[in-house]
Amino acid sequence: MEEFSYLHLGEKVDPDKYLICTYRITTDLPMKKAAESLAAEQTTGTWTGISTLERKTFEKYGGRVIGIDGNVVTLAYPVADFSMDVGAVPQILSIIAGNLFGLHSIDKIRLEDAFFPKSIRKEFPGPRFGIAGLRKILKRPEKPLVGTIVKPKIGLSPKDTAKYVYESGKGGLTNSKDDETLVNQKFCPLEDRTVAIAESLDKLKSEGHRMLHAINISTSGHKIIEVAEKAQAWGAKQIMVDVLTAGFAAIQALAEDRSIKVPLHIHRTMHGAMTRDPLHGIAMLPIAKLCRMCGGDAVHVGTLGIGKMEGDPSGDRDNIDSCFDRSVGYKTVMPVCSGGVSPGMVDRIIEAAGSMDVQIQAGGGVAGHPGGVRKGAMGMSQAVDAAFLGIPLDEYAKTHPELKIALELWGYR
Ligand code: 3PG
Repeated sequence: MEEFSYLHLGEKVDPDKYLICTYRITTDLPMKKAAESLAAEQTTGTWTGISTLERKTFEKYGGRVIGIDGNVVTLAYPVADFSMDVGAVPQILSIIAGNLFGLHSIDKIRLEDAFFPKSIRKEFPGPRFGIAGLRKILKRPEKPLVGTIVKPKIGLSPKDTAKYVYESGKGGLTNSKDDETLVNQKFCPLEDRTVAIAESLDKLKSEGHRMLHAINISTSGHKIIEVAEKAQAWGAKQIMVDVLTAGFAAIQALAEDRSIKVPLHIHRTMHGAMTRDPLHGIAMLPIAKLCRMCGGDAVHVGTLGIGKMEGDPSGDRDNIDSCFDRSVGYKTVMPVCSGGVSPGMVDRIIEAAGSMDVQIQAGGGVAGHPGGVRKGAMGMSQAVDAAFLGIPLDEYAKTHPELKIALELWGYR
């Protein structure tokens, strides 16, 4: 049986002809051997030599290990391995993030990054609105967007949810959203909630304030377009998808369906199962890139190690930078920093993000304000204003009592 080597170390491949991934590998095997078994498993091989693999098939479809740097392996997959009309993200992931996570020979492996060639990118819509589109809708050209997640996560009636949204808008917030666990439970039916929230948003607009609320329509694949269409007909101005539970294909379906005319807010609930272990799983970076490719307009990317969720500042910064990368040919996507945020963190988050193009959200950091939702929203808005103006929050708080109370309660620096 002919033996094949997947090692092409140092080879320069054409980035338009390969999907290139980097993996961090932990193994007792020599790294070259581990990299070969990875390339074999994910492309033309398996755990043993096989009589059915011919050289011409191997040459055309075999993965190429083009770099090994310590425990980081760079693997180039020929574009011919991918099937875009039927397949798309599910098939891409089966290759670049499939069986490899369970291989005995590799103790741990983490997909750190993925570079999609033009021939694959052109099969995906990218954001329809993106940063510029969201800013235009909100008439907020420069300042960071500032939002809330309605709290409690579940349990409020449609009327109380709409009241929360209205109060948030009166406090200056530009965005609000359903939480990831709220969809169409009996205590808060989707239709009643969407209608009531639309009334709040319309009222705010008539009073001179523009605001978006993302309605969570995450559901089974065969129903998602229908549910999104209904939500839109009931007045939804933005819809939200829990991407890792609903699937990337859900975003793509919504982004490509011409009947859906509102921006898509992408929540990443469950990401910790993939992203948290620094040595195993999938980093947020390729997930963020896929969300953008599939058509997300705003994507949760982490809080740069500052909020309640585990996250490393430099990794989260890479996620944010990827949202702005113009070389991929898509509109830029709004990075959303959310999870355990309070007003006293806002300036640090903006500084660490390195951009004013960011949406900062607080659930508890708004609803937990002793003065109620409106004052909580004012505290968050004031924090964003201060950061935008480059004024230290404690200084700004001297003339902004809602911020002052928030800083006293949750701290600053
Ligand atoms: C989210 O959707 O990001 C979380 O529910 C945020 O809620 P928190 O601000 O209260 O942590």
